[in-house]
Amino acid sequence: MKIGLILTAGGIGKRFGSETPKQFVFLKGKPLFILTLDNLLKIQEFNNIILTYPKSWENVFFDLIEQFPPSRTVDFVEGGSERFYSVWNALQHPSIKSTDIVLIHDAVRPFVTSSLIERLLNGIANFDGVIPGIKVKDTLKESDENGVALHTLNRNKIFAIQTPQAFKTQILVESYSKAINDGKIFTDDSGVAEFAGFRIKIVEGEEINIKITSPLDFAFAEFLNI
Ligand code: CTP
Repeated sequence: MKIGLILTAGGIGKRFGSETPKQFVFLKGKPLFILTLDNLLKIQEFNNIILTYPKSWENVFFDLIEQFPPSRTVDFVEGGSERFYSVWNALQHPSIKSTDIVLIHDAVRPFVTSSLIERLLNGIANFDGVIPGIKVKDTLKESDENGVALHTLNRNKIFAIQTPQAFKTQILVESYSKAINDGKIFTDDSGVAEFAGFRIKIVEGEEINIKITSPLDFAFAEFLNI
């Protein structure tokens, strides 16, 4: 089974609020996206790897790559205006065709584990895609447009979805092509495949697999002894 990796590092991190995009900020001595890539390379053999980068930060990106060269070959693809377009661009790369399975991971989730990847890959034989989700701890409510509570949602059926997300490559390519043709865009890859009618299984995600979005997430990540 040939497994490809798309690591998305093409954003500019508005919510993080630093001058440099958050994936370039140093965490535990390395740029965040390099930390994530190195962790993934320790866990799993990939047939090929595509890394997306923000066009407007191209120079900074390639400087960091020169300073922290990946331990194996990586293909670089210019990101798009939204994460959806960064993944779409990556799916156009010729190396994608040689993979059976593709794993898509946010470069700002550095603490991905081998057990999580194992769960995703174990499930992929029986589904079109497998994604990690964790149960939400807080009570969830839906409100009206004035912020007045309407009702409480059933937490048992609600998941906070993470990456990596694993798909049969053909299915993901077909799903993205359909979304592009229909003029739809999605915030995660599973949403694209669900829209195209494919069966995506949610497996247990991990609390440690945080996405660094705000400065508080970053401070927490730096504090963690892993
Ligand atoms: N990403 C990408 N291309 C984009 C936007 C995001 O490759 N056009 C990447 C980010 O670099 C990140 C991952 O997708 O590794 C998840 O993005 P997220 O953190 O949700 O968004 P950002 O655009 O980076 O941040 P913000 O929403 O705060 O602006």
